[in-house]
Amino acid sequence: MKPKVYITRKIPDEIVTKIEMECEIRMWNEPEIPVPREVLEKEIADAEGLFCLITETIDRELLEKARRLKVISNMAVGYNNIDIKAAKEKKIIVTNTPGVLTETTADLTFALLMATARRLVESSDYLRRGDWKTWSPMQLTGQDVYGATLGIIGMGRIGTALARRANGFDMKILYHNRSRKYQIENELNVKFAELETLLKESDFVCIMTPYSNETKGLISTRELSLMKNTAILINTARGGIVNEDDLYLALKKGTIWAAGLDVYEEEPISQDHPLLTLPNVVTIPHIGSASVKTRLKMAELAAENMMLVLKNEQPKNVVG
Ligand code: GLV
Repeated sequence: MKPKVYITRKIPDEIVTKIEMECEIRMWNEPEIPVPREVLEKEIADAEGLFCLITETIDRELLEKARRLKVISNMAVGYNNIDIKAAKEKKIIVTNTPGVLTETTADLTFALLMATARRLVESSDYLRRGDWKTWSPMQLTGQDVYGATLGIIGMGRIGTALARRANGFDMKILYHNRSRKYQIENELNVKFAELETLLKESDFVCIMTPYSNETKGLISTRELSLMKNTAILINTARGGIVNEDDLYLALKKGTIWAAGLDVYEEEPISQDHPLLTLPNVVTIPHIGSASVKTRLKMAELAAENMMLVLKNEQPKNVVG
């Protein structure tokens, strides 16, 4: 008998077909609406495999309802949506999809950095509104990227890929990380710095660290006040790493110059969130890994990890 799996969102047909060869599938068939909690609670009771997204909160209470679950396969590199401790206690293996999204996410981070520095969204809106009457010397002037100082908080895979891009722009690169990365320091000409030094010296601060109790609210009023008033904060990691109320005030008061955000404390961010009223915020809807090729690779890897566990084989990416 094929193992039963539940897929929490409509995923590409070609991936469904692959899973179907080995599993009995039930799937939430909506592409844009997350599975309601009560549906998930019901579906998880019988499933042996769960293929889920970061939009699902897989907490202890939900896992209590899982009677046969062997694997939770998250189609993401981050897994802060899952209670890893509770899963472990229930001997449920948790997997994620690192590696395949590294370059795509680094691309987006650099794109967001450039868009924020050079006010691309604001400039486009300005033109479309019909405000562009003439060329003028200081009109829509931004910050230079080439040759500037980049501070990377979290030198993992994506942070390293970002540093590689920054080398092409002749940037001076500082990084802060729990442990020193000597090989990367040598290869990419990046320098380790204490967080405070990084914040004081960087023109761009990019958050590239996972979300955890340790990094929750890592960037709050004190940290923002250490930054230059011409500095730009970029967050493509997880929203909760930055205190959004503090960020709003810092941007409003000119403590820092601008922010580029792909992630938020609550997603989707509410339409009346004060951050959305500021012209110096470039805001995009958590699209770091969103290229066609990468999203297919992530779905494929998540499927593979889930099926490997269900065949009692070693999955490629175990977390926890
Ligand atoms: C997306 O945010 C991911 O963690 O893959």
